[in-house]
Amino acid sequence: MLKPEKITINDILNKKKDKRKITALTAYDYPSAKIASNAGIDIILVGDSLGMVIQGENNTLKVEVEDMIYHTSLVSKADPDSLIITDMPYMSYHLSIEKSIENAMKLIKYGGAGGVKIEGGEKRIDTIKAIIDSEIPVMGHLGLTPQSINTMGGFKVQGKLKKKAEEIYKDAIKLEKAGVFSIVLESIPEELSQIITNELKIPTIGIGAGKFCDGQILVFHDLLGISNEKTPKFVRKYANIYDISIKAIKEYIKDINSGNFPNDNETYHTKEDLKGFIK
Ligand code: KIV
Repeated sequence: MLKPEKITINDILNKKKDKRKITALTAYDYPSAKIASNAGIDIILVGDSLGMVIQGENNTLKVEVEDMIYHTSLVSKADPDSLIITDMPYMSYHLSIEKSIENAMKLIKYGGAGGVKIEGGEKRIDTIKAIIDSEIPVMGHLGLTPQSINTMGGFKVQGKLKKKAEEIYKDAIKLEKAGVFSIVLESIPEELSQIITNELKIPTIGIGAGKFCDGQILVFHDLLGISNEKTPKFVRKYANIYDISIKAIKEYIKDINSGNFPNDNETYHTKEDLKGFIK
């Protein structure tokens, strides 16, 4: 049975109706899911960004369904109050509708997700409808869709020109009609995300899409400054865990070298005379 405090898709939809902002954050494991949930985040996204953030790849294309099941199951073990949504990785929903439903089902059944996120618009509509028909909630993702970097020519802002902006707008309308419960809008101009947000009944969740979206999402490691690598313009670092970690580990090394670690409180003792068994 669902815990009463567990956030549901209906809670997310009601937030838009009541004009309350939706908060979302990625998490890829047990501790990050605990932290996000205990801080009060509405939606945890087990993003395929884990390919870059956790696996150290340059893009998300190598992430497998098995990776997503594994990381989603770690997040589920934290039993967060947040709604858990999991990314369907590259090529897990492109080959056939049957295979796509099977992959989405695995993320729900074995990962414990409450829904899946799928990148793309018109081209994916039939697949998205079929997955929703299988009782699996779907979140859409438009604008900069990282699984399309090879066709987009890199991680570039989308919809700056009218033609592309109109395409993204039309895709958003089609996704809503297909039944998605929300749409991530990534790296598009604020003017476009405002039009889309005003037009749709379902919530928009922005990342690099300005302040008018119904909610915002960031990558956990970016928000906390866990890495010292360059982040996109839209990232706001709320902490600098990288610097704090380096400082702490340097102190640890210093204490080992000086004999200051471990001290007596950090050490076990016995009252037996252990020298007795030395011949
Ligand atoms: O993979 C991911 O983390 C995402 C979010 C950044 C929206 O898709």
